[in-house]
Amino acid sequence: MLASTLASLLFAAAAFAAPAPAEASADAVPVGNTTEDASLNASAASVANQNTSEGTQAAASSAAPAPIDLTVLNFALTLEHLEATYYQEGLSKFGLDAFSSIGLPNFVLQQFKTIAADESIHVTFLQNAIAATFGMNLAVPKCTYNFDGALANIQSFITFAAILEKTGVQAYDGGVKLIVNDDIKTAAATIATVEGRHSSFLNLLTGAGPAPGPFDTPLGIRPVISIAAGLIKSCPYTLPAMPFPALTTVDGSGLTSGTPVASGSTIPLMFTGGMGMSATDAALLSCNWVFGVEPQVRTSIQMGSNGPECQVPSEIQKAAFTQAVVFVVNESRDVALDDDKNVVAGPATVFVGSAKASGSANRK
Ligand SMILES: *[C@@H]1O[C@H](CO)[C@@H](O)[C@H](O)[C@H]1NC(C)=O
Ligand SMILES: *[C@@H]1O[C@H](CO)[C@@H](O)[C@H](O)[C@H]1NC(C)=O
Ligand SMILES: *[C@@H]1O[C@H](CO)[C@@H](O)[C@H](O)[C@H]1NC(C)=O
Ligand SMILES: *[C@@H]1O[C@H](CO)[C@@H](O)[C@H](O)[C@H]1NC(C)=O
Repeated sequence: MLASTLASLLFAAAAFAAPAPAEASADAVPVGNTTEDASLNASAASVANQNTSEGTQAAASSAAPAPIDLTVLNFALTLEHLEATYYQEGLSKFGLDAFSSIGLPNFVLQQFKTIAADESIHVTFLQNAIAATFGMNLAVPKCTYNFDGALANIQSFITFAAILEKTGVQAYDGGVKLIVNDDIKTAAATIATVEGRHSSFLNLLTGAGPAPGPFDTPLGIRPVISIAAGLIKSCPYTLPAMPFPALTTVDGSGLTSGTPVASGSTIPLMFTGGMGMSATDAALLSCNWVFGVEPQVRTSIQMGSNGPECQVPSEIQKAAFTQAVVFVVNESRDVALDDDKNVVAGPATVFVGSAKASGSANRK
């Protein structure tokens, strides 16, 4: 996956990199005002019972905190817990030796430590924001995770980190329209851009280029939870959405997402019910490729010798996007941020690689 030219690029880049990881800053100010918290808190109970349809909230929310904001903050916290734990476990497993074994210079490990610290601070920040705005004991705890596949080796650690950061960006981008409170919107934006920087760095390591398209893709809560669910063993609370059935775009042997595929190539699809499907049923389904904000592309699904398959659209690279998420859909329309009723499985994150990248798709 990591071509030696890339590694030398990184060595070159090291000359410009700030060597010391930023110290964890304690300056983050929680959204909300703990002085005002008592009065906010007093109304929290009644707010919890108010009609939570989005439209009514937007109109009525300038004073009382909107319950949807608690949902979105806890949704963000669900992801940040996952990310923070992922880096914590990954960095306890992989040290300098592991990074250098694939030709990566020392500053890459330092960057991982910085990213890990950022994610832990995001957790604390969101916990504080929830406590200050909504009251104590309302922030969701950690889940237990299944990182076995993702942490199988240093390369999969990096690939899944890239997927998680990209998913983080997509989650904040998609979540922002749900947020009622302006301060929380600002806070979400300040985190989203940092996730974007993490994503840039990790994209470089996975060969995608730091900014793999002119737009990021906003994703709704359910698609994001569907991506995260692959790494969650169990949770002591109900996730904010039911995951869609998982979609594996390669061979189902462990990685559900992230293997580079070539534009124009045909990829096998694994999802519940896919294997035994008749050709007629398969023809009713499509792959819906989502990249940037538009356009989206759908490609038809056929039964191949190993099950259903579809083609990676050439538009992705023509449009200068080298990353996408792909859904299996059962209606002739695209998945929308507010309407994902046509989703049968997915999404999976796809890195559309050059021949070089796709040639190293087998990682063991
Ligand atoms: C917090 O609330 C107190 C009391 O209402 C007020 O004096 C203070 O300016 C507020 N701080 C911020 C940052 O809004
Ligand atoms: C909430 O508001 C919507 C739209 O006004 C309405 O259809 C629904 O019945 C309300 N639900 C409750 C529990 O009041
Ligand atoms: C908010 O209310 C909850 C439940 O009534 C209480 O346990 C908590 O201490 C309150 N938080 C603050 C900051 O007053
Ligand atoms: C597509 O799938 C969804 C979810 O399973 C289902 O609710 C919907 O009826 C299906 N639509 C068609 C046209 O089969």
